[in-house]
This record gives sequence, C-alpha cells and structure tokens, in this order.
Amino acid sequence: MNLVLDYTNLLKNENMPDGISLCHLESAKTLLQDTFKMFNEKKDKEPLGFYDLPDYDTAKITDYITKINSREKPFEALVVLGIGGSALGNKAVYSALKHQKSLKKLFVYDNVDPYLWQDILDEINIDTTLFNVITKSGTTAETMSSFMYIINFLKNTFPDDYKERLVITTDKEKGFLRKVINDEGFQSFIVPDDVGGRFSVLTDVGLLSSAFVGIDVNAMLNGAKKMRALCDEKDIFKNPAMIIAATHVKYMSQGKNISVMMPYSNALYDIADWYRQLWAESLGKKFNLNGEEVCVGQTPVKALGATDQHSQVQLYVEGPKDKVFTFLMVENYTKDFVIPEVYTDREEVNYLCKSTFSKLLNSECIATELALTEAGCPNMMIKFKNLNEESIGAFIYLYEAATVYAGYMLNINPLDQPGVEAGKIATYALMNKKGFEQTAIKINNYIENKEKQGKILCLN
Ligand code: PA5
Repeated sequence: MNLVLDYTNLLKNENMPDGISLCHLESAKTLLQDTFKMFNEKKDKEPLGFYDLPDYDTAKITDYITKINSREKPFEALVVLGIGGSALGNKAVYSALKHQKSLKKLFVYDNVDPYLWQDILDEINIDTTLFNVITKSGTTAETMSSFMYIINFLKNTFPDDYKERLVITTDKEKGFLRKVINDEGFQSFIVPDDVGGRFSVLTDVGLLSSAFVGIDVNAMLNGAKKMRALCDEKDIFKNPAMIIAATHVKYMSQGKNISVMMPYSNALYDIADWYRQLWAESLGKKFNLNGEEVCVGQTPVKALGATDQHSQVQLYVEGPKDKVFTFLMVENYTKDFVIPEVYTDREEVNYLCKSTFSKLLNSECIATELALTEAGCPNMMIKFKNLNEESIGAFIYLYEAATVYAGYMLNINPLDQPGVEAGKIATYALMNKKGFEQTAIKINNYIENKEKQGKILCLN
C-alpha cells in the first residue's frame, strides 16, 4: 500500500501526557464492536452507498471517452458545473494527480460568482470544451443557473451539435435534469440513489471527469478496494479508519472540536477541502439516532504547509488546545528542483545549497509535527509514498469509512444533510420559486425585523 498512517502522537506518550491511552482504545472495544455491528447490519439490509463503490463498473465511462476521443476535433478541456459533493471530489482528484502525467484540462465552476465564470471562459476554447453538469437532486439553484447559461450559449453557438457538447450527471429517475435528458436526449451519467453527494467521488460524479482528463480510474478504484479490506479489519489496531474515527471521537469528547488537516503539498490542498465537506456535513448534526438534540460535530479546517507556518502555526502551538491535527506528506516527488550552489560562502543560506525544494518542504512538515507534539497538541501523519491513482483512491475510501464510523460512534446519521436542505429551501424562497411563498414571507419578516433593530451601519 502506498499510504502510511502514523498515529503515534494521537496517543499518550512522554510528549503527549494528555493523549489518548491505549487502554482507552482497548476499552472502547465495545463501542467499536457496536459500530461494526451497526455498520454491517445496515449494509446487509440495504446497500450502504459508498461501501460498494470500489467495485464500480466503469465500462460506460470508458466507452463514452473512447467515443468522444474519436471526434474530428477532440475535446481538450472539461468544465464541471456543480457544487458541494458534485464538485469538490473532481477538484481534489485532479489537483492531486495533474503533475503526475500530462492530463487534459479540468475546470470546476462550483459557485455563482460572475468573476469565476469569466475566468473560466477566458481560459477555455469553447469549441473544444465539453461541459458536465453534475447534480444529484437535479434542482440546485447554483448549478441550474450555470446550466441555463451554458445550454443557451451552446444552442446559439453550435445549433447543429450542441447536444454533443454537454453531458448531464444526475439521479437516474428524479429531478428536473432527468426530464431534460429524457426530453432532449443528452448523454447522461448517474449519481447513484444511495450515495450522498459528498461520498460520490468514486461514482460517475468523479470518475467521468477523471477519465476524461486521462486519469486511470480503475487504478483509483483498485486503491479504494485495497483500503476497504483494511477498513473492514475487526482488530482496531489494524483498521486505519477505526483508528481515525475512535481517536477523533474521543478527542471531541475532551473538547477538541476542531480538526485541522494540513497537507504539506499544494497538490493535496483540494483534498483537504473535500475532507472539510465530508467531515462537516456528515458529523455536524442536531439530533442523534434516538431523536435527542445533541448538536455534535467537529469543525474541519484546512491549512497548507509550509505556507501557513507563517500564518497559522503560532495559534496552533500557543493558542487554545481545542484542535486535533492531520498532516499529509508526499514522500517522493516526480518533479523536483535542486537549490543551486550560490552564495556558498554565506552561512545564512549555504545550508540550503544542493538540497531540493521537496526535502525542505518535508523537513518543515516534520518540524511542525515536532513543534505541535512538544506543545502537547495531538496530531497524526498520513504519508503518500507516491501521489498516484492508487494512493488517492485509497485515501478517499479511508476517509469515507472513517467518517461513517465516527458518525455511528456518535450515534448520529452521517449520511444525511438536513441543514443543507434548509439553506436550499430558503434560497428558492428568496428567488421567488413557486411553492415556497410561505418561506418567502418568513424571510421577508426576518429581514424587516433586522432592519428595524437599527444595528446596521453604513460605513461609507
Ligand atoms: O453532499 C451533499 O449532499 C451536498 O453537499 C450536495 O452535494 C450539494 O448540496 C449539491 O447538491 P446536488 O448535487 O443535488 O446539486
């Protein structure tokens, strides 16, 4: 396996007197066994979405890519139109792997920011760009607005073949876009019913764009499959997802309500973003499975090494002890730069001569780990021996399993997102969607009330 998990500094040791003791993990066995039982019972009753994804059938994707690659003018770039779970996984995989081999270009429009849209339009050649609209519900306002813009543009610009320039990835039956597919005959892909957006990167949602740019999606699934075998291990000390879940849940109970993921690599910064959504939406819940109000969650934060050493680490080392840290490190870079032998007579900098950028970066990662450890801040390290399809697939599965285990340990449902739905409903009301009139009245009252309180200052 291409990944190494080092959780030494999550446990009690001479540097970490307040760390979790091995006895605690041993004594948590009942909780862990219960978690396993719950997990297995659920997956035996009905498919547990993400669990089966390492076996995902990629034949339809491969056929489609072969077909479009034989176009007279092949597509050079893909633009994903989607948000949240319909976007973050695409970005994460592409950013992680784009330096490993020459890939086609991927852009992700995951906002409704006009400047971001303009930036993408400036970068692409519209004639050789394929658009992929991704939305599980088929109705999300942000995605619908960009879909409406682009479909209108494509129809006007390429009236003869606009249908070949756009694919739609959505639910197999439900939602507005499924109707559009049925009525207008667009090429479509599926977001499986039982897989939530944030767990969907190893489905058509993330695999189509990955295959389009040239990533070996079967190797990615293979990495996920190997990781699934480890995450099925009953002995907690051999099960990486259980280790992550059990330690983080324990630290939450000690008031460590922030989980910082700090990749020492720009290539992994977007994967930390993907993790933020996964951990936040899955574990941030008001009610537990018994219907009691619990308001649990652990706030995921991303930081970038070495950049944020010069911005965040002061707080991490000396500030409130409310955080658990995860470092991500790439051991072997396929591209690197040697620091040349210049200023060899100057002690201020000559120690750097003949070293490499990656050696400096990884040394800084270890230095920060040490600084946090000495400050008594629990931390763990995941090392990617190499960044490749297998290690990324394995990492994705590892965190999906860890998140679900953590959810079950907390006795909440990690697979729903009622809080996101509430925001979507309020947006529909504010944008005057039919059927949301009562919500619109409530929101307008809220706005009026706020204005009446006189706490809004004009600052110009
Ligand atoms: O994980 C989730 O379920 C959400 O973040 C969704 O991915 C996000 O709200 C976008 O929804 P949809 O794919 O339905 O457009």
